[in-house]
This record gives sequence, structure tokens and C-alpha cells, in this order.
Amino acid sequence: LWSVDKNVDNLITYPQIKESADLLAKNEVIAFPTETVYGLGGNAQSDEAVLKIFEAKGRPSDNPLIIHIGEKDQLTGFVKKVPEKATILMEKFWPGPLTIIFEKLDGKLSDFATAGLSTVAVRMPDHPVALALINESKAPIAAPSANRSGRPSPTTAGHVMEDLNGRIAGIVDGGPTGVGVESTVLDCTSEIPVILRPGGVTREQIEAVIGEVKVDPALTDSEQAPKSPGMKYTHYAPDAPLTLVKGSREFIQQLVNKKRQENLKVGVLTTGENSTYYDADYIFTCGKRSELETVASHLYTALRSFNDAGVNVIFSEMFPNEGVGQAIMNRLLKAAGQHVIEE
Ligand code: TXA
Ligand code: MG
Repeated sequence: LWSVDKNVDNLITYPQIKESADLLAKNEVIAFPTETVYGLGGNAQSDEAVLKIFEAKGRPSDNPLIIHIGEKDQLTGFVKKVPEKATILMEKFWPGPLTIIFEKLDGKLSDFATAGLSTVAVRMPDHPVALALINESKAPIAAPSANRSGRPSPTTAGHVMEDLNGRIAGIVDGGPTGVGVESTVLDCTSEIPVILRPGGVTREQIEAVIGEVKVDPALTDSEQAPKSPGMKYTHYAPDAPLTLVKGSREFIQQLVNKKRQENLKVGVLTTGENSTYYDADYIFTCGKRSELETVASHLYTALRSFNDAGVNVIFSEMFPNEGVGQAIMNRLLKAAGQHVIEE
């Protein structure tokens, strides 16, 4: 475990960065912070490194990884072409929480990283530690979120420890991440780009610069196969069953009371506006609903904390499906196995 202060100048000269970049160059795998969640990085050109990532996470081999770059020029080394809309988006949102899918140039990256697809997902993270590490390793870095497969993504080095301690060569601790949910995955291989996973950059922000985008219909219709392989797996679920409640806080409290009468320990996921209202066994206050960014940044800590609290059932408030609320609701619905109760 190396700790670094992300605010210092000239990070690249720090021994922590040098040592961990050297390990990446030797095809070891290292967890590091990005602005969204911690990633588990390995040299994307090396089968050995990429297979170590899949092994450490217990990740299904048909689920491709995102390639992280430190300079925009690196892109042309492994994509066929950069469409005009992608160029505009990169200008506006890179570095930042937007992953773009391109046609892949064959033979430049490990085929395991792209799970044998003809496309490749790429992003440039907006975090000084991530950028220093990628640039110092001098390779494109394949990095999924640094959790065991199926668990909520890690937003602190402690979360990475919980999941991967002993399974990877090291963790660079740069403090808690900011955005808290993963990047938006946008397929730019079609004329009208398609959002495959909602995330840190919102649909509204993307449409403001390139006009219309589509949303993969599988995100709202569970009968359809998602275009992003990772979206078909269950994810994020706490041990206790989670139910989202569309209704008033009075209604949520009634549900809590009923479960407690059955001698169950009940958890509630709420927000600053409502937290003092509830009476339950464990209450997690996840940011403020008037600022959905604060909810996103605490969401995965909330989901992990219900396990530590040892509750038997969990009820959660719902969030508006706009802005970063789209990513929040996508992750909560997955964590709840799509289970929603209406008042
Ligand atoms: O914010 C993030 O994106 C974090 C940080 C570490 O950068 N990374 C992350 O990676 O969330 P991961 O592996 O947990 O999620 C990558 C998603 C998966 O749903 C995967 O199926 C999808 O991107 N993906 C990767 N390559 C793809 C491709 N060529 N076509 C469609 N989906 C792809
Ligand atoms: Mg993940």
C-alpha cells in the first residue's frame, strides 16, 4: 500500500508513483484512484497482466475492460478512426468520466482486454495520481473497477483492501474518489451515439455538445440483452435484500415498522433532507437529494455499509431519473434486483 497526496506538484517524481509504475511495466496489477472509483490496472498490451486482472476480480472473461490513457495521442495507437463526434466529446470531457467505444485496430492490445470484440472502450481519467501512473508506466492501462466481481465498486482504498487484499501487487491510496459512480460508457461507432451505461457525465451534458444520443433500450427493459457485456451481470447487491420505495417517507416508515414487528433488523437508505424522520435499526444518510452529486459520491459506501450493520432487509428512497440521477437509479435498481414497491 502506497499513500500519496493527490494535491502535490510533480507527482511523477514521487517514489510511490515510480515503484507502482515499475510494477505495471513488469505486468503486475495495481489498484489506483480515479475521479470515479478505484481501478485495478494492468498493461493493456500484455496478456499476462490482463489475465491477472480477470483472475484477481473473479471477472467473467466475456466482459471487456476499459483502456485508460494519459495523453489523447495514445488513442491512435490502437483505434481505427476517431469519429468527429468523438473528437468533440474528447475535447469537452477528457480528462473526465466519459468512456468512448471505438473500432479497434487489431493486434495492438491484448485480445483478452477487449474480450475478443472488434471494438475497444477508452477513457482518460481526471485524477492526477491515475494520470501520473499511466504516463510513467508508458503503456495503455486496462482497468476495471477494483472490486471483486459483483460487489459495489470501491470509492476508497479501504474498499479495495476489503475485496482484493492479498490478490494484487499493491494499492496506491490517493484518498476517496470524487464522482463515486463509474464513467458513462458511450458507443460512438454508430452515427447516433448510444449510452450503454449511465455514469458521471450525464446524457444532458453529452447532448448539449453533439445533439441527439440514444440510450441502450436494455437499460430500461430487462427482457433485452445489453450491448455492454458488463451490464448483464448482477452487481452491487448488499447481502440483505434491498427494495426501492416509490412513495412518501411515511409509507417507507410503515414498511419499516412492519418488518420490525417480524423481529427483522431494518436498514434505510435516505438523504439529508429526510434522515431525522426515520426510526429504524440502521440509517445511512447518502448525501442530499437537492444535490444528486453528493448522493452519487456516497452511494457505494452506503451499499457496503449495510453489510457491516448486519441488517436483514433494506428500504431505499428513490431518485429522479435526470442528470447523475440516471446513474444512481441504474445502480440502485441493479442492487435491488429491480425490486420496487409503489405506495
Ligand atoms: O469509471 C470507470 O469507468 C471505472 C474506472 C476504474 O475507470 N472503470 C469501470 O470499469 O467501471 P468496469 O470494467 O467495471 O466497467 C466497464 C464497462 C463494462 O460494463 C464493460 O462491459 C463495458 O464497460 N465495456 C468495455 N469495453 C466494451 C466494449 N468494447 N463494448 C461495450 N462495452 C464495453
Ligand atoms: Mg465494475
